[in-house]
Amino acid sequence: MPTDAIVMLKQDHKEIEKAFKAFEKAGENAQKAKGDAVKKIIELLTVHTYIENEVMYPRVRELLPDVEDDVLESYEEHHVADLIVMELVTMKPKDERFDAKTTVLIENVRHHIEEEEQEWFPKVREGLGRKALQELGADLEKAKKKAPKKPSQPSALKKTIDAVIA
Ligand SMILES: [Fe+2]
Ligand SMILES: [Fe+2]
Repeated sequence: MPTDAIVMLKQDHKEIEKAFKAFEKAGENAQKAKGDAVKKIIELLTVHTYIENEVMYPRVRELLPDVEDDVLESYEEHHVADLIVMELVTMKPKDERFDAKTTVLIENVRHHIEEEEQEWFPKVREGLGRKALQELGADLEKAKKKAPKKPSQPSALKKTIDAVIA
């Protein structure tokens, strides 16, 4: 059964939300649990951002000009999250700002996911139809296999730097 692109991305969102909850449930002093949760959050976000930036967003932009503004805003939201992640990877759970920075990352990404799911993924579903979404899903699966898992990997970091100096 081929995977529908939107179904697949929403599944990713669920996993990301699970990692957010793990961070939020960890006690104030649970350094290890918080550190592990943030590691997982960063890994999931790095892969997910990569496949959306490389496959989903450019394809939607090309096929559905009406959704272009939503896509551009989403790129910017990814960029803000990337910047927070780049700072977070240099920090330890005991650092004074670790919790605050993670909380702001979570708030930003939750807002972003809500916009994707509520505002523009429905337009994409309507505009593309089932077959195109399945083809897109297959391409997302492929991209996932070669996606970086850490922001320090060249393919991930390069995007952030390009976005800053572009
Ligand atoms: Fe996104
Ligand atoms: Fe997403």
